[in-house]
Amino acid sequence: MNILEQLRTQLPHDHILGDGIPEVGKGPKKKSVRRAYIIVLGNIKGGSGKSTTAMHLSVALVDRGYRVGAIDLDGRQQTLARYLENRAAFARNRGIELPMPDIRAIPPSNLTQALSERNSKIQRFGRALEELIFQNDFVVIDCPGSDDLIARICHSFADTLVSPMNDSFIDLDLIARLDPESGEFLRPTWYSEMVWSQRKRRSTIDGHRIDWVIMRNRLTHIDAHNKRRMATVLQDLAPRLGYRVAPGFCERVIYRELFHKGLTLLDLTRPGVDMPLSMSHLAARQEVRNLVSSLRLRRLDEPSAFLGTEGAGTGASTAAA
Ligand SMILES: Nc1ncnc2c1ncn2[C@@H]1O[C@H](COP(=O)(O)OP(=O)(O)OP(=O)(O)O)[C@@H](O)[C@H]1O
Ligand SMILES: [Mg+2]
Repeated sequence: MNILEQLRTQLPHDHILGDGIPEVGKGPKKKSVRRAYIIVLGNIKGGSGKSTTAMHLSVALVDRGYRVGAIDLDGRQQTLARYLENRAAFARNRGIELPMPDIRAIPPSNLTQALSERNSKIQRFGRALEELIFQNDFVVIDCPGSDDLIARICHSFADTLVSPMNDSFIDLDLIARLDPESGEFLRPTWYSEMVWSQRKRRSTIDGHRIDWVIMRNRLTHIDAHNKRRMATVLQDLAPRLGYRVAPGFCERVIYRELFHKGLTLLDLTRPGVDMPLSMSHLAARQEVRNLVSSLRLRRLDEPSAFLGTEGAGTGASTAAA
C-alpha cells in the first residue's frame, strides 16, 4: 500500500482523494508520480519548540531551493500559520522577497459535535496533504501536542518525525519512565508507545521505517551537570526506544523576538532585513544548520521513492544523503 492508499484507509470518507488525484499503484502512470518527503514535528509536550522548529526547517529547505509545503494542524493556536503571515507582511512592508513555504492551516470548524469536528478535521488535513504532496519536495507538518486520532494519523505519515524536547527531566518523563533512584529505564510512555505503533503500522503499509529524531531545545549554559546527565540518559535510551538524537537549539531570546517579524535565524543577513547580528545569533544560526544537516534530508527522487513502486519510501535510508 502506498501513502495515498494509506490516507484513503485512514480518512473517514474515501471521496476526499477522488478527483484530480493521479491513480497510483496501478497502470503505467505510477512511476511518474513523485510525492514529497514528509517531516512531522510532534511531541505530546506543549511548548517544546515544535512550531519554532517547523518554521526554521521550512525556511531552511526553501532556502536550499526545494519546494516546500507546510501544514499547521494546530488549529487553535495556528502558530506556524501566524508566523508565516507575519513573514509575508514583513516582506510586503519592506518590499523584499523572502523564501516562503506554501502553508495550509486547519482551523477548528464550527461543528458542535466532537465526532463531526474530528472527522471534518481529518478530511481537511487529507485535502491539505493531497494539495501539497505532489507539488512539493517536502511537506512539513506542525502537529499539536495532543492525544487524538488526528495526531496519530499525522505521526503515521512522517518519513521523519522530529520531536523537540526541552532539556528537562519533566519532558523526558513523557518519553520514558525511569527509576527515580537508579535512573534505570522502567517502561516507555504513552507517547513513545504511540510512535512505536505508528512506525509498525507504517512499516506494514509501505515498508517505510519512520526516522524518529529527538532534538534537545532551550539548552542553557547553566546547570551543566543536569545537561550532561540528560545527554547521557537520552543517548542510552535511544536504541531502546528507537530514536536518534540530533543537535538542538540553545535557549535564546531571539527566538521569541523573531516571531512577530516572521523571520528565522537564517534571514538575519538577507538584504532588506536589517537585523543586528551578534555572536549569539551567529551561533544560533549554526545550530539551525546543524539540525538540518543532521536530518539528512533530500528529495525522494530515486526510483525507489516513487509512489506505487516496490519498496516505495524505504524511509530514513532513502532520505539519507
Ligand atoms: N531555543 C529557544 N530559546 C528560546 N525560546 C524558545 C526556543 N524555542 C522555542 N522558544 C519559545 O518557546 C515558546 C514555545 O515554542 P513553540 O511555540 O515553538 O512550541 P510548541 O511546541 O509549538 O508549543 P505548542 O505545544 O503550544 O504548540 C515560544 O515562545 C518560542 O518562541
Ligand atoms: Mg506549536
